[in-house]
Amino acid sequence: MGSADSDIVFQSYGRCCNNKSFFIDFYDRFMGSSEAVRALFKNTDMPAQRHLLRNGIMQLVLHARGMPATKLKALGESHSRKGYNIRPEWYGLWLESLLVTLRKHDPQFDDDTALAWRRAIEPGIELIRGAY
Ligand code: HEM
Repeated sequence: MGSADSDIVFQSYGRCCNNKSFFIDFYDRFMGSSEAVRALFKNTDMPAQRHLLRNGIMQLVLHARGMPATKLKALGESHSRKGYNIRPEWYGLWLESLLVTLRKHDPQFDDDTALAWRRAIEPGIELIRGAY
């Protein structure tokens, strides 16, 4: 991953993450993508969860910029079979929901931005998924 990717991603996220409706739209999309995913958030305080995800995505972006993986390792633990039991195949839905929501909210989003996001955050996602 070149640092050019992480610059594109950092700026793209900056255009999205201060808008509360970005996170509302993300979870609408993500929970709409599968009955099993919706069931996982049945008892979740969604306003709090949206706030936590704002930081979680930032951790993925910072990891792409060379930050140590400490916070992502903790997410790997909490999402593992000992924790929320998040099955590895669900991360694909998560990433696709994120990209659709970015395309909707970032006025400068294009195919290069999408590729930069994929390349930048896939290692961090892999770290969380791999802890299963
Ligand atoms: C790599 C992508 C993901 C990131 C960055 C992420 C981020 C987070 C964060 C920051 C939290 C709160 C902190 C914690 O409890 O450890 C959380 C909780 C949670 N996440 Fe994720 N997550 C990801 C993928 C997923 C996927 C794919 C699912 C389900 C299919 C999922 C389901 C959950 C659930 C059920 C909770 C707990 C909700 C509750 O407290 O009721 N996450 N996630």
